[in-house]
Amino acid sequence: MKAIHEWYDKWFERKEKYARTDERFLSEDVFASIGVGIGLPPIVQKSTFSFRNVKDGADRFLGKSKSGEKPFARIYTRLGNPTTEYLEKVLFQLDCHHIIEAALKADERKPTIGSLVFASGMAAIACTTFALVRSGSEILSGNVYGCTDSFFRSLEKFGVKARFLDMTDLRAVEKALKAAPETAMIFLETPDNPTLQIADLPGIARLAEKRRIPLVVDNTFATPFLQQPFRLGADIVIQSMTKYINGHSTSVGGVVIGPWGFVGEHLFPVYKDHGPTPSPFDSWLNSQGLQTLHLRVERASASALELARRLEKHPKVARVFYPGLKSHPQHALARKQMRAFGGMISFELKGGYEPGARLMDYFASYTTPMELAVSLGSAVSYIQHPASMTHSGIPEADRATRGITAGLVRWSVGLEGVETLWNAMTEGLELAYRG
Ligand SMILES: Cc1ncc(COP(=O)(O)O)c(C=O)c1O
Repeated sequence: MKAIHEWYDKWFERKEKYARTDERFLSEDVFASIGVGIGLPPIVQKSTFSFRNVKDGADRFLGKSKSGEKPFARIYTRLGNPTTEYLEKVLFQLDCHHIIEAALKADERKPTIGSLVFASGMAAIACTTFALVRSGSEILSGNVYGCTDSFFRSLEKFGVKARFLDMTDLRAVEKALKAAPETAMIFLETPDNPTLQIADLPGIARLAEKRRIPLVVDNTFATPFLQQPFRLGADIVIQSMTKYINGHSTSVGGVVIGPWGFVGEHLFPVYKDHGPTPSPFDSWLNSQGLQTLHLRVERASASALELARRLEKHPKVARVFYPGLKSHPQHALARKQMRAFGGMISFELKGGYEPGARLMDYFASYTTPMELAVSLGSAVSYIQHPASMTHSGIPEADRATRGITAGLVRWSVGLEGVETLWNAMTEGLELAYRG
């Protein structure tokens, strides 16, 4: 079968050799030392850069540079910037350290993987999509963040059709691929937002490969510390850095890591011409977050696991969605492909929307340790209502089939400590039922 994307076959050969591994994770120490790196970069708050001479300028526009830096990172900040380049290099190492090592050992002359940092997670998703689809293409998407969902739907006016399906059902994925030969990408989140379902990445990757279609994984909830999608068969990995990578809700950002043939030749032209460039200061803030990513994610995961177990036993809680619980339908799969289960919990209260709304209003008070706010992955815990907030853009019928009910509450567990959070949660629950 011929691949839709001309870069795919070359990548596929390298993917088999260097990317897919039985070892699921980069060792914690190596991960941490790459994250800390060589210290924070300077903030190069400049829009344009002077060339050494005419040849240097022309070479950079041709994508060549002598000193090993990204050639475009010293032309004009819309095309790249040294502070952003630092972030791109470190993120790319965190996800692809094993690929780089293996390719160097094999004496590969051309880069195998590339990365680009964007002004937001949505900019990363939108530009990746624009680089992959054309009129007549189809997108096969799982349950995704509300704006990703509405963005995919909005492409209909350009003749691009989005199909949504349950990515936990491999048979349904296989059937959908068969029915849509023009599929230009499979896009999924795992764990997904907000129902925390887990997709079988190796299984879906094999189905995608049969049809030579790229598998794009939004790894925002897991982060590269908890899940390394390239090792499991993904072709392109996206993160909203606004969440765990930043870790303090101080800026917005996104990253795309993917085959060099895609990033260099297809994504970069979209990047250059659409202008989704982050400010150097935002890249600097996001670089700072990398240094503690593993510690924060480990701690949030440990707290969330304990809190999910307690919530599951609470008499007012009808249902808890957390991949670390034995009751989670894909718990065994999560154990296989994740280092820990992450800091996100969703749950439903008995009695549906009303008590849920009262619980969230309780956390709107500044005297409680959490915030009533969207976003996630911060040192501060957030609670929110997906049906009226993050996922309100999804048609109601689709929300219902995906389990995004009116009573669903999403909790991003921060670093406040289990007992502090649990004390507040039990008090909030008590008040929610007092009416
Ligand atoms: C899973 C996921 N992907 C992407 C995004 C979009 O990221 P950003 O807000 O940085 O544009 C979000 C935002 O909440 C998200 O939760």
